Amino acid sequence: MRGDRVQLSCGVTIPILGFGTYSYPHDQEETEAAVRSALKMGYRHFDTAKIYGSEAAVGKALTTAMEEEGDTIVREDVFLTSKLWSSDHHDPVSALKKSLQTLGMEYVDMYLVHWPVKFKPWAIGAIPKEDEFEPKLEMEETWAGMERCLDMGLCRCIGVSNFSSKKILDLLDFASAYPAANQVEMHPMWRQRKLREVCAENEIHVSAYSPLGAPGNLWGSTAVVDDPIIQSIAFKHRASPAQVALQWGISKGVSVIAKSFNKNRMRENMGALDLELDCRDLLEIDKLEERKMMRGEFLVNETSSPYRTIQDLWDGEI
Ligand SMILES: NC(=O)c1ccc[n+]([C@@H]2O[C@H](COP(=O)([O-])OP(=O)(O)OC[C@H]3O[C@@H](n4cnc5c(N)ncnc54)[C@H](OP(=O)(O)O)[C@@H]3O)[C@@H](O)[C@H]2O)c1
Repeated sequence: MRGDRVQLSCGVTIPILGFGTYSYPHDQEETEAAVRSALKMGYRHFDTAKIYGSEAAVGKALTTAMEEEGDTIVREDVFLTSKLWSSDHHDPVSALKKSLQTLGMEYVDMYLVHWPVKFKPWAIGAIPKEDEFEPKLEMEETWAGMERCLDMGLCRCIGVSNFSSKKILDLLDFASAYPAANQVEMHPMWRQRKLREVCAENEIHVSAYSPLGAPGNLWGSTAVVDDPIIQSIAFKHRASPAQVALQWGISKGVSVIAKSFNKNRMRENMGALDLELDCRDLLEIDKLEERKMMRGEFLVNETSSPYRTIQDLWDGEI
């Protein structure tokens, strides 16, 4: 097991290399096998969400591994994240209890508000229809429910995802328990400089999703791994472009959550922990043109969403 972890404000440590479990189409057996392989390789940080449909597979893989390899894989060493879907903002406690049941776990280490948008409780699916939006986010109520989850011991930390600097600062105005993390898109072409500063000032850990730029995903691109600068840095260090992208994130103090269900690429991604980038590499990467992959268009409309434009959703940070 690799010991590279950072301390969170909620008192737990998070492994800096995470394992993503979003895939489309989702295949239960493939996901379970991938998580088993990842555990064998030393991954100890797993990212799931109700909306990914991967909770059952992740939970089963973890439980089986702990039963079969109890000496090497123990629950306390595993950092497990799940997320509150937008149609569950009305009742985070029930939503988390349901997730725990699906996972077959007593607690998750991190429970995140997946997106700063609230749907009607009856909304199903990832892409909301026009009449499925609640007109307001009402984060104060949602956060009170998240704090109840923490008080009840259903999770060890609470946090948010896809929150802009402004939304983070608004939340801090009324939160009794501060968010321990903000999980956002971050990679060499979407560097989140301002957000990272705001989070650091408030002891909020940043977790980077799509740290490779999500090549192969519907909304993603190969722009990061195919970029000539990234490739030349990789060549210089006898590393791969993916390793450069991941180590770049780690060098900024964030945890990176890469998804691969391919054993060779899982191993390759783990190798990012051994790569050392120099100042020149970091300066070169800072010059890359920025490009957000996950823009969240599906949460924006001119009638029912609280966000009329993409700029509204990200408070201008796009
Ligand atoms: N909070 C949120 O709203 C949010 C949004 C998006 C994602 N996430 C989380 O973050 C995780 C990772 O994000 P992501 O899946 O969007 O993007 P990503 O990890 O940047 O990219 C995943 C894609 O890259 C490929 N890949 C993996 N390793 C590679 C390598 N070494 N070289 C080349 N290609 C490689 C994967 O294919 P193979 O599997 O075939 O290797 C997959 O198609 C998700 O699984 C999910 O857990 C959270």
